[in-house]
Amino acid sequence: MPGPSAPLMRIVYTSRRSPSAMHLEDDALVEQILGVSRVKNATWRLSGLLVFGAGRFAQTLEGPPDMVAAMFDTIRQDERHHDVRLLHQAPTPARCFATWTMAYLSDLDMIPAEMGIGNDAMALVLTLRAVVRGGPAAFATTSFGAMAQAA
Ligand SMILES: Cc1cc2nc3c(=O)[nH]c(=O)nc-3n(C[C@H](O)[C@H](O)[C@H](O)COP(=O)(O)O)c2cc1C
Repeated sequence: MPGPSAPLMRIVYTSRRSPSAMHLEDDALVEQILGVSRVKNATWRLSGLLVFGAGRFAQTLEGPPDMVAAMFDTIRQDERHHDVRLLHQAPTPARCFATWTMAYLSDLDMIPAEMGIGNDAMALVLTLRAVVRGGPAAFATTSFGAMAQAA
């Protein structure tokens, strides 16, 4: 296993569910995505959080920079969503979702107190939720977004 000094990258993006995937119920589509993600992210050493609501996804992925980049390349070509907008990409000293290969929250779920590790984790949870509700423009209005832009 890489030591604590191994470089880590974090991205945040948002996208919209494709009309062509509409034959699937929202729940079934999310289950499909989570099923693959939880297996593949484990082998790719990726962790993160996906939020879905009202036709919009917001996701954060963290892990080795080359793995994050390669996964985002795959994800952005996935036809089950479109209008993929990268909102944030930066090195990070630590994972916020180390114990989740892909945590999931629906737009309407209560946010569990134990979701994520550290102060950035809750900021990220709230940011993804705000982006799902308000679209990409909402990113800058969140505490994580404001912090990321100032950095
Ligand atoms: C919104 C969204 C998020 C996704 N997140 C992941 C992810 O975190 N990990 C993953 O392996 N696949 C994710 N996928 C699925 C990938 O796009 C892809 O279908 C999957 O990795 C299988 O790729 P492969 O058939 O080339 O192995 C996501 C898809 C969508 C639409």
